[in-house]
Amino acid sequence: PLCSMRQVLDEAAKGNYGVGAFNVNNMEQIQAIMEAARETQSPVIIQASRGARSYSQDKFLYHLMLAAAELYPEIPLVMHLDHGNSVETCKSAIDLGFTSVMMDGSLMPDGKTPSTFEYNVKATRAVVELAHDKGVTVEGEIGVLGGIEDGHGAGGTGLEHITDPEQAVEFVEKTGLDALAIAIGTSHGAYKFNKKPDGSVLKMQRLIEIHKRLPNTHLVMHGSSSVPKDLQDVINQYGGQLKPTWGVPVEEIQLGIRNGVRKVNVDTDNRLAITGAIRKVFIETPEKFDPRDYLKPAREAMKKVVAQRMKEFGQAGHA
Ligand code: G3H
Ligand code: 13P
Ligand code: NA
Ligand code: ZN
Repeated sequence: PLCSMRQVLDEAAKGNYGVGAFNVNNMEQIQAIMEAARETQSPVIIQASRGARSYSQDKFLYHLMLAAAELYPEIPLVMHLDHGNSVETCKSAIDLGFTSVMMDGSLMPDGKTPSTFEYNVKATRAVVELAHDKGVTVEGEIGVLGGIEDGHGAGGTGLEHITDPEQAVEFVEKTGLDALAIAIGTSHGAYKFNKKPDGSVLKMQRLIEIHKRLPNTHLVMHGSSSVPKDLQDVINQYGGQLKPTWGVPVEEIQLGIRNGVRKVNVDTDNRLAITGAIRKVFIETPEKFDPRDYLKPAREAMKKVVAQRMKEFGQAGHA
């Protein structure tokens, strides 16, 4: 059934596991997630960005998710807005029927300038008031992810906006949010780290400190794709041109989960799986032109990644 994120993350906190939040733009991605969830008996968070909503016309996505809830009645399903950039965007998702929204007030609505603390509190608090009225969950963010503007990784530059624990406490108190995204050195996209991480790539001490001060706040890790070598290799083997790159090791995410991380955002790994599978069909059987001939393997490849993450994050068996 459709659930608020609060319900799913409260359960995750009790059971000490994390829940993957996977981005979607279309039917096949939703189907991949639901099949993975059924196979592993996992609760599910499906999220749509602003880009996803405009790409798909969000009503299509909304009704696809209603279909998912109907066809997989045993699976707790959260429909979440990823990176809402204003109170209005969040309100439109709530009005549409999303059960959870993120108010990302870490940047000003221009998407570039780091916001003031006061702006972030005010916008997030306004969304909490709208949302809680309707049983909808709110994720807020404090600190700025690395490389958010250019997608080229933290690489040192992202680290100046690491979440300050003192501010995190004040932010949670003043907004009343349900889940808090923190910046601890992650970034969005495929190009997170330009060499193989040796040891910890994330600011784990910072995470631990935040969790100690906010033991009852569900923490969220964005930019949690692992960018696996095997998925990169399939793309490059079939004509793709990815540059050498590394993501966040799964063990690092698991360490986060042991320290209060309950929602783990993954998009890039699924994009890689889909693209590799499609390239493979195009190169190996160039005579094919029925979209199902490549969308089926693409869906299957994404399902495999999602099912693996569900097991690794510990949500498997908790549907
Ligand atoms: O946070 C970014 C997610 O990966 C969604 O990306 O804005 O390109 O849809 P998008
Ligand atoms: P990745 O780019 O690492 O998959 O992160 C996705 C994300 O944080 C969506 O909000
Ligand atoms: Na942000
Ligand atoms: Zn994100």
